Amino acid sequence: MSKTQVDDDAIIGLLRGVIDPELHDNIVDLGMVRSAYRENSTAHITIALTTAGCPLRATIKRDCETRVKSLPGIEKVKLHWDELNAKEKARVMERARKYARDNASPTEIQPTTRVLSIASGKGGVGKSSVTVNIAASLANRGFTVGVLDADIWGFSVPRMLGLDSRLEAKIIDSDSTRPKIIPEERSEGSGVLKVVSTGLMVDTEETALMWRGLMLAKAVEQFLRDVQWGYLDYLLIDMPPGTGDVQMALARLLPQAEMIVVTTPSLSAQKVAVRVADMARRSHMPILGVIENMSAFVTPDGTSWPVFGEGGGVRLATEIDVPLLGSIPLEPSVSAGGDNGTPVSTSNTGAAATAFNQIVERLVSDIAPPLDLSSCSAHTISEVSVSVGNPRK
Ligand SMILES: Nc1ncnc2c1ncn2[C@@H]1O[C@H](COP(=O)(O)OP(=O)(O)OP(=O)(O)O)[C@@H](O)[C@H]1O
Ligand SMILES: [Mg+2]
Repeated sequence: MSKTQVDDDAIIGLLRGVIDPELHDNIVDLGMVRSAYRENSTAHITIALTTAGCPLRATIKRDCETRVKSLPGIEKVKLHWDELNAKEKARVMERARKYARDNASPTEIQPTTRVLSIASGKGGVGKSSVTVNIAASLANRGFTVGVLDADIWGFSVPRMLGLDSRLEAKIIDSDSTRPKIIPEERSEGSGVLKVVSTGLMVDTEETALMWRGLMLAKAVEQFLRDVQWGYLDYLLIDMPPGTGDVQMALARLLPQAEMIVVTTPSLSAQKVAVRVADMARRSHMPILGVIENMSAFVTPDGTSWPVFGEGGGVRLATEIDVPLLGSIPLEPSVSAGGDNGTPVSTSNTGAAATAFNQIVERLVSDIAPPLDLSSCSAHTISEVSVSVGNPRK
């Protein structure tokens, strides 16, 4: 590493979204980034860990790479490793303790929650269907999964998950007079879904129109601050179609948020989706990949009908330089599952269910694994958790 290299602000900005799961803070503010600069199309980043053999190294590496590769002009990310010295470690611990004391997070979402925002350029391409099916499949694997319906007045998550009760608000903290909204819970396999939607607050789907005047970004912000989410492995956010302000608010409030873009195979959906990807990059939100929905309809005799065209997913993924996570066929079971509150990913074994489960498998094992709490040093975690309390509750 050359000492003459000047740190690159854009790279540093993106690294602020990389959270050390053990210390609940980003690696830049923790003082773990020794240097970050670019040399032609390669980003060189040196990170100092609490111990050289830290098991979180793989998670941090993957997060750094995903984030920094989203920068235009960066093709390769080269990570160099170092170890914090005793003085630096003491400073990091002080910061972790301060976090424990203040728990100053502006939202109720823990930094160790993987936040996946499901977005698209056009409406009606299947964001909500993708959100609930991925969420259900994750929960089915034993994860605790939050679902935030950020489509404030076009909500559809409650119907798709078969929920029709009303959300309650309770005073949780005896020091506060401010009530917290309790998410609606639904168990799924060995896991649980915790759902918040304006659809669980208003009386009928029709009264949703009353929310029209509400500032969307403000409402989403409130859902992040005033909901008692508790422990979550994943938070999935069903985005309203193409609204920049909600996306910006999310990027600001949840620096760890990452985006999945949904598109159909048609050219028009692909073109609009490119704009959403551009916006995500401007707000430093990494894009994990593309899901093509409503791919060919396959008749029982095996004939494939490309109702909405072909190849939009691959073209979009290539254009914005991210992987195609999978293609979901057009299948009546998907809409039927949405209409009767039983997501196809956990209630069916057809081609669409298989495709959803393969995507989730890829997310969990490779693209967006849970930010687990396997610690670098038992000492660090126990010290922090003494004052934070066990976050897994
Ligand atoms: N793969 C699929 N096969 C069959 N029907 C589907 C599929 N994906 C979605 N649908 C149906 O298409 C309609 C639109 O899907 P969905 O509501 O998920 O889209 P959306 O992008 O969330 O829409 P909006 O922009 O209005 O929020 C729904 O009726 C849904 O059941
Ligand atoms: Mg929707």
